Amino acid sequence: MTEPRKVGVLIGSLRKESYTRKMANALIEAAPATLSFEIIDINGLPLYNEDIDGDNAPAEWVRLRSAITAVEAILFATPEYNRSIPGALKNAVDIASRPSRKGALTGKPGMVMSVSPGALSAFGANHHLRQCMVFLDMPTLQQPEMYLGGVAKMFDESGKLINDSTREFLAKGAQAFSDWINLVRPISA
Ligand code: FNR
Repeated sequence: MTEPRKVGVLIGSLRKESYTRKMANALIEAAPATLSFEIIDINGLPLYNEDIDGDNAPAEWVRLRSAITAVEAILFATPEYNRSIPGALKNAVDIASRPSRKGALTGKPGMVMSVSPGALSAFGANHHLRQCMVFLDMPTLQQPEMYLGGVAKMFDESGKLINDSTREFLAKGAQAFSDWINLVRPISA
């Protein structure tokens, strides 16, 4: 059997009880064995500043870039802040985008999942992130679009997903992502 394709997961919320993190964990559980996942921590990254980039870039940036380089694809799981992505996630994207056109994210297959307690399902954040992914030349899964709304009642006290139709949707999305990675980055390539 071929090895599972390695997916790095960037989660746009830093808070402990984050719905977005719980939803990312639920997707990981529902995913096929053709994928393996590593959550890449974006907490505590110094703000991006070109003046301190280069050979002596902060260790946290180096760690982030190495972790992303080591995976084959990226799942972004993001909440929405003010109809866009949280600053912490944008900062991580900016760090991992440099050096220009050779950044760790450049060309990696990607998938976006947006999560909100509200009814609009963080649509604005989902598409702002997609805008970054166009610039980063990330071949991005188009369908199914992963909008997860009304999530506040979807988890039990231990953080486990208790909504079966959402679990099926996550499984469908993860399978589509696995197929997408194999299509745009075939193993033999
Ligand atoms: C929010 N929230 C929010 N929700 C939304 O659907 N659209 C939005 O534009 C915003 N804006 C916003 C700004 C800021 C600064 C905060 C703190 C929150 C609410 C948000 O969806 C809610 O707090 C989620 O629980 C955040 O995701 P996590 O942390 O649970 O993953």
